[in-house]
Amino acid sequence: MSTTLEPDGTHDGLPAFYFDNRLDGPVLSHLQRWDELAGTHTGFRSTVAGGYWVATDGPAVQRALQDWRTFSNTSVTALEPDPKFLWIPEMLDPPEHTAWRRLLGRYFSPAAVAAREPEIRRTATELIDALAGRGGADVLDDFARRFPTLIFMRLMGLPEEDLPTFLAWIHDLLHLSHAEDPEGSRQLSAMQAVSAYFDEQIALRRRAPRDDLLSHAMAWTIDDQPISDRDMHAFCILMFQAGFDTVPISIGWALYHFATHPEQRAEIVADPALIAGGVEEILRVYSFVVPARKATRDVEIAGCPVRAGEMVMLPLAVTNRDPHRYENPLEVDLHRSSTNHIAFGSGPHRCLGSHLARLELTTAVREWHRRIPDYRVAPGQELRQHGNMYGLQSLRLEW
Ligand code: HEM
Repeated sequence: MSTTLEPDGTHDGLPAFYFDNRLDGPVLSHLQRWDELAGTHTGFRSTVAGGYWVATDGPAVQRALQDWRTFSNTSVTALEPDPKFLWIPEMLDPPEHTAWRRLLGRYFSPAAVAAREPEIRRTATELIDALAGRGGADVLDDFARRFPTLIFMRLMGLPEEDLPTFLAWIHDLLHLSHAEDPEGSRQLSAMQAVSAYFDEQIALRRRAPRDDLLSHAMAWTIDDQPISDRDMHAFCILMFQAGFDTVPISIGWALYHFATHPEQRAEIVADPALIAGGVEEILRVYSFVVPARKATRDVEIAGCPVRAGEMVMLPLAVTNRDPHRYENPLEVDLHRSSTNHIAFGSGPHRCLGSHLARLELTTAVREWHRRIPDYRVAPGQELRQHGNMYGLQSLRLEW
């Protein structure tokens, strides 16, 4: 990470930093940087590219996420205030957004997700059983990335044999370092491949609908209009981004946490009822999503004088690790009575997949510890995390 915490000037009276959230760094470095920034500033200006505002005041971040009239989702990428792409429902504002959420809701409701529990458990156990006798593995590649991706492909109705292709695209899209892809050409060609893949899947279902979420969505109407191929495509791309990386990142943090906190690992092994609360704490403490919004009017937020059309970055970590909100905020406390975190966001865009994510995470952690209760971080690796969404790049455990 090239951020220095030394301001390189001021902007409208606030400190300006060269702050580039895309860069990778050593394990936990992004969280430590947010803690440091939040401890010294309510907000600041990043001077990267055209510049954008960053709120580092916990309550202000949550308020902005809830105030969709002032903080629009027409752009959610701090570096691109006028994107040429569309992701549905993430980049829609109400009322169009509300119509999509109403239609999608029943596929992601607690009851719909609970009905998938046997399949989710079976998938997790098969993958973990295959690893248990090996004595060690890169748990991201060999488990955390495969498990939720398989569940998600089945939900959308995508052929399971495409899993290796999907994992390769996800790698090129999200996990290449600057050195591996200096021009961004591999990332671009993966994006084009994903885009072409979904065009094909949409066309297949226009010809012959099936019993899957994609086919069902194509039969919906919004304001009496059928969903266009363009909007179906924007929906598929968002689901791809939202569904494929987040659960793997969280499983990675959970295994990292319990590998480095053996006393807590012993507690959850002895009493699996502690796992659900532990997962909430891991989501809170290792917060990795950094939403952004576009101001619709001049407004002051977290001390930043934001002008209409400017972007504001809203890191969830500053709310979830706020010492005014939590006692011992940086500690995973398996016995905390209520965590009340915003790791799934807040306001109208709060994560659609949160029930599914929670079930996948608790299942992964429970089934893992049933089969592999004793493990450690394999020596001789330098643990690093990606920028943008902070997930471990790889994690080799041994048992
Ligand atoms: C631990 C895992 C996950 C985390 C931490 C997470 C987090 C988030 C967050 C913070 C947002 C709000 C973004 C914003 O305000 O701009 C969001 C939105 C969303 N998430 Fe998740 N997510 C997870 C898993 C999933 C899964 C498994 C799915 C689907 C299968 C999913 C689908 C979505 C969708 C569709 C949205 C957009 C909602 C909207 O715009 O109304 N997420 N997620």
